Amino acid sequence: MALLKIARMGHPVLWRTADPVGDAHDPALQRLIDDMIETMRDADGVGLAAPQVHESRRLIVVLPLAGREDDSRPEPLPILDPVLEPLGETVEEGLEGCLSIPDLRGIVPRWQRLRWRGRSREGRPIGGVAEGFFARVLQHEVDHLDGILYPMRMTDLSLLAFVEHQRHLIERAAEDDHADVA
Ligand code: NI
Repeated sequence: MALLKIARMGHPVLWRTADPVGDAHDPALQRLIDDMIETMRDADGVGLAAPQVHESRRLIVVLPLAGREDDSRPEPLPILDPVLEPLGETVEEGLEGCLSIPDLRGIVPRWQRLRWRGRSREGRPIGGVAEGFFARVLQHEVDHLDGILYPMRMTDLSLLAFVEHQRHLIERAAEDDHADVA
């Protein structure tokens, strides 16, 4: 396994629409999945999308965490060709960061609950219902496959700050009547 170089905001690979994964049994794909898991762990991330490691393919690796403060570390879940479908109309504001945008955090509106589908690394159909923080992580990572970075989803750019001011950001979001800041 190897640590992969993470593309940073402005690299064109992050603006591209990624291609379908294709054959799940391709050994190069399996190696990419292992390397993405190792890279995400090393960077202490909760999700990573293939375009972030310069591979324009519809592949993400996520930690199925219940919340930001959830310190269980579940097995990383690779999802090939993920598709999301919002359930209900509830949108929640919450804090996000991105390994491609180091040191910044933003308050981003996301669907609170959704259904996800895709393929496992063995190529089998997988899916489920996600809500809250896990739903947020899925939306963030699938956006990477469509060339979208979280600031492009923000509706109030005054809620973008450096990580050392994260606390102020959360306070400001709460004052501004942004509900349910995660
Ligand atoms: Ni990201």
